[in-house]
Amino acid sequence: MGIDVEVVTAMVLYKHQWMILKVDTSVACPTRKARLEGSHVVWSFPQVFSALVQPPFGNRGVRVGIENHFLSDCLANQRGYQVLERGGTVEIQVPFGAEGGLLKSHVNNNQYSQSYFIDLFYLHQWQDAQWTLTQQRTFRPLYLVQLPRTPVLINNTVPAEGVFSLILGAFPHDVSLVNITVGGHPVAWVEADGLGLKLSHVPFPNGTHGYLLEVPFPHPVVSQKYLGDQYRKYTLSVVFSFIISPQAQLYHHTATVESDVQDVVLPSVEARCTQRGVQLLLHYGNIDWQWEVYVGGLRLDWELVELGGYTVSAQVDHLSMEVPLYSPGMTYEGLGLQGLAVSVQMTIKHKDTGEEQIHTHQCVFPVRELLVCLPDGEMVVLIDMSSVVPPVDPKWVTLLDPACGPLFTDGTQALFSFNVDSCGTMKVLEGDLLEYRNEVRYSPAFLSQLQSSHYPKFRIPVGCVHPANGTRTLGIYQPHSLPPLPHASHSRKSRTPRSARARKRPFWIG
Ligand SMILES: *[C@@H]1O[C@H](CO)[C@@H](O)[C@H](O)[C@H]1NC(C)=O
Ligand SMILES: *[C@@H]1O[C@H](CO)[C@@H](O)[C@H](O)[C@H]1NC(C)=O
Ligand SMILES: *[C@@H]1O[C@H](CO)[C@@H](O)[C@H](O)[C@H]1NC(C)=O
Ligand SMILES: *[C@@H]1O[C@H](CO)[C@@H](O)[C@H](O)[C@H]1NC(C)=O
Repeated sequence: MGIDVEVVTAMVLYKHQWMILKVDTSVACPTRKARLEGSHVVWSFPQVFSALVQPPFGNRGVRVGIENHFLSDCLANQRGYQVLERGGTVEIQVPFGAEGGLLKSHVNNNQYSQSYFIDLFYLHQWQDAQWTLTQQRTFRPLYLVQLPRTPVLINNTVPAEGVFSLILGAFPHDVSLVNITVGGHPVAWVEADGLGLKLSHVPFPNGTHGYLLEVPFPHPVVSQKYLGDQYRKYTLSVVFSFIISPQAQLYHHTATVESDVQDVVLPSVEARCTQRGVQLLLHYGNIDWQWEVYVGGLRLDWELVELGGYTVSAQVDHLSMEVPLYSPGMTYEGLGLQGLAVSVQMTIKHKDTGEEQIHTHQCVFPVRELLVCLPDGEMVVLIDMSSVVPPVDPKWVTLLDPACGPLFTDGTQALFSFNVDSCGTMKVLEGDLLEYRNEVRYSPAFLSQLQSSHYPKFRIPVGCVHPANGTRTLGIYQPHSLPPLPHASHSRKSRTPRSARARKRPFWIG
C-alpha cells in the first residue's frame, strides 16, 4: 500500500503459580505526514494493522475527533470532514481551514497566505476471532504551512439597483481591515459613512469573516465611460488595506469591478426662432460632458461665441444660446418674397465614440429689402417699391439687361436672382477686389418707344464685391437706410477678419 508504518510488538511470558501466561502487545503508527490535495488536507494510513487484528475480522467503524474529543458524524459532516475507505487505505480529508483547526495569516511581498494547524484524533475498531473489540487510537497534530490564498471577491452587484456591492473574504481572526482607497482617494473606515460609502464587517458561519463594500454607481469615486448606444460602463477600483496581527504586517488587496448599464440620457437640443435669430437650448443629459458641439460646422468655443455675438447663459442642466441672424454658424437657405430663410445646424459629437446627433432648425425672417452675394457668384436681390413716387409696378423692373426680369413679384416687391457673369453685370477691379455692378431699373417693354424723360426715375444700383483671386464668401446686406446688422457677412469655412470685411461693403444706394 506504500504507507510506512512503525510497529512494535512485544510478547511477555510470565509464570503465576502453576500457570504460564502469555501477553501480546502491539503498537502501530503510520509515519506519513498529512498532504494537501487541492483545498483538502489528506491524511491516510492502512485500513488494517496486521499486528493488531487477524483475519477473518469485522470492521466496526471509524470515528474522528479533535483534541481528544470525538465529533458526532453530524458535526464532522457539517465541517466538511470526510473519512474514505478504499483499496485497503483509510483517508481522512479535512478542508484546509475548516473549523476545528487554527488558521494563521502571513504576508510575503504582498502575497497573502495561510497556514493551518489541526490536532486530529482517529479511532478504528474491529472484531476478530480472538477479540470482540479491538480499538486503535491515533493522535496526529497536522500542520500545513503557508499556502498562498488569494482572498475571494464576491461580486453581488445588481446593475438595476445601481450600487456596487462586493464582499472580500474569507479571513481568519488575525486579519482586520484598516482603510480602503477608492478611485484613488484614501478613506479611513470611520469616514466611509460620511462619504456615502457603506463599509461593514461580515461574519461567516464557519468562523471566518469578510468585508462588504457598497458604492452607488453615481458616486464620484466611480469612473464612467460612455460606450455608445446609451450604454455606460461604471468602474470601481478599490484597494483594501489590512493589518495582520500580531506582527502588524500590512496587506493590500486590489479589486476592480465594472458594470455596463443602459442608463444614459443623451444631450438634446431644442430650438426656436426669435426676433434676433435662433435660440438653441442644449440639455446636457446625465453623462460626463465628453461632447464636442458644432454650430453650422464651426466648433463651439469662446472665440466663436465672441465672433458670432452669441448670447450664452449656462444653467445647471442646460446651456441657452442665441445665434443672431447673419452671424457665423448660421446658414443661408434662400431669399424669397416671404423673407430670408436661414437655418442653424447644431451637431453634438462624442469625443470617444464619435456618436453624432445633428439638429437643424430653420427660421424665416420677414425682410422688405435685402441683397445676398453667394459664394457661387449668384446675386439675389429683393427690392421694395412701396414708397416709390410715382408708383412703379414691380412687374416692370429689370436689370441692366432688359431681358433679365424679376423671378417673383407681388404688389410692392420684386425678387431677382442672377449670376455675376450675366444680365449686363459690369466688373471693376479695385486693388485685389472685383466689384460686380448692376442696376434695378424701371424699363417697361411697352414704353420702350417713349422718351426717357417720361419714365418714372427709378434706378437702384446693386453689387457684390469678391476677392479677385481667392475664395468668395457669402455676404448679406440690408439697405443703408436701415440700422447696421450685427454681422454683415460671414463665411462657412474661413473667417474673414473684421478689417477685411469692412473694406468689402457692397454698394447699395437706395
Ligand atoms: C467559510 O465561509 C466562507 C463564506 O461562506 C467561505 O468563502 C470560506 O471558503 C469558508 N472557509 C472555509 C475554510 O470553509
Ligand atoms: C491605511 O492604513 C495603513 C495602516 O494603518 C496606513 O499605513 C496607511 O497610511 C493608511 N492609508 C490611508 C490612506 O489612510
Ligand atoms: C460584477 O457584477 C456585474 C453586474 O452583475 C457584472 O457586470 C461584472 O462583470 C461582474 N464582475 C466584475 C469583475 O466586475
Ligand atoms: C490673379 O491671378 C492671375 C493669375 O494667377 C494673375 O494674372 C492676376 O494678376 C491675379 N490678380 C490679382 C488681383 O492678384
